[in-house]
Amino acid sequence: MIVKPKGTYDILPEEVKKWTKLEDTIRKICYLYNYKEIRTPIFESYDVFHRDKKDTSDMVMKETYDFMDRGERKITLRPEGTAGIARAYVENKIYAVNPVTKLFYIGPMFRYERPQKGRTRQFHQFGIEALGSDSPLIDAEGIALGTALIRSLGLKGVTVKINSLGDEETRERYRNVLVEYFTKHQDDLCADCRERLLKNPLRILDCKVDKDKEFFLQAPKINSYWTESSKNHFEAVLNALKNMQIPYEVCPNLVRGLDYYSHTVFELEADIPEFGAQNVLGGGGRYDKLISDLGGPQTPAFGMAFGLERLLLATELCGKKLDKPDSIHIYFIALGEKAREECGKIMNICRIGGLACEMDYLGRGIKAQFKDADKNNAHFTCILGENELAEFKINIKDNMTDIQETISLYEVYNYVINKLNQSAGVCAGCTKKE
Ligand code: HAM
Repeated sequence: MIVKPKGTYDILPEEVKKWTKLEDTIRKICYLYNYKEIRTPIFESYDVFHRDKKDTSDMVMKETYDFMDRGERKITLRPEGTAGIARAYVENKIYAVNPVTKLFYIGPMFRYERPQKGRTRQFHQFGIEALGSDSPLIDAEGIALGTALIRSLGLKGVTVKINSLGDEETRERYRNVLVEYFTKHQDDLCADCRERLLKNPLRILDCKVDKDKEFFLQAPKINSYWTESSKNHFEAVLNALKNMQIPYEVCPNLVRGLDYYSHTVFELEADIPEFGAQNVLGGGGRYDKLISDLGGPQTPAFGMAFGLERLLLATELCGKKLDKPDSIHIYFIALGEKAREECGKIMNICRIGGLACEMDYLGRGIKAQFKDADKNNAHFTCILGENELAEFKINIKDNMTDIQETISLYEVYNYVINKLNQSAGVCAGCTKKE
């Protein structure tokens, strides 16, 4: 029997529904933030990923699938989306059309890693790339999009960990200080870190082996070496996150695994006990030199990516079901012709505002309408009778909590939106309490 390659897996029909739901949720959120979908090849020229000898990240050095095709071209299966998109951005001169380009992608990536829970050799990423702006607001917007996704999936216990690697001057200064510091502690370093000391000392800070040792905790921190403009950029990002009420934790040792980053770097980490070691759902940062390294004009950029497998695993462990039946936001129950007309009007307003609604079109009695609301998995049921209509009032029931209130006819849309915001993440596609 021929079996699947190590580190790959099949997504069987019963699993596919979860994947399409997750992808639908991602597309809805990208639409709200005005990111447009791009699809680039799954394999690229080797040079797209192996750009220069200074890149010492494990991903580029040890994990890419490289091969010669039948035409003797050196090819690499993409291990991530960013470099391929940067290549497409330059090759298609997208910069000449849009000064700021906001793109997203969903698709398979390939890394020759040691497979374990949450880590496979073929996996799927959802990523965004915002090219052309150095505004800290773009960094904050990208992080907000990431947290919106986490919220939409109903995930709890996810922390935004953030740091700044500053500009080139910052990293150069910090690099020298780190080399001096860790050279003194060379004998205490693990074998990998001794190698990193020569090639990429910042990556020592990523070490999982030494991270709790005293000499490691005492290592100089990058924030003491930020240039004024690096510090200002980072403070502006944090300020924008505060304004959007997005909690974060500044982690001075966060450096990320890829070598193209500058300024903001961040990760979304899940505190889910059963998750295992691979608890980073997604991450990214600013990469202001990648486009010019690929032959394009100097273009500041920011992006991030999530592992879809990890998002699915997290939703499962948090007891959230993605493959549940479709649902709507509001079902309108109308008693009498006038009430039906009025419901039609309110429903139209709600739909224009993005709420999925339904009502009865068969003139059925109240019992049958309640049944239909149930069948449609309505989050809210609005009930309008002649008496309420005379007072411009309507009854609204939250089917998740069973709380019923009487509100003004004109308030329905705002009421539902506020409730949805409060229950964080309940969006079209979520259903009643399980
Ligand atoms: P990354 O941190 O290498 O960043 O990958 C992003 C996410 O992909 C990880 O947080 C993880 O959820 C998932 N992932 C990575 N490797 C595996 C694997 N072997 N198995 C399962 N899931 C995995 C990047 O790829 C950057 N391109 C992100 C970015 C975009 N930075 C700027 N723009």
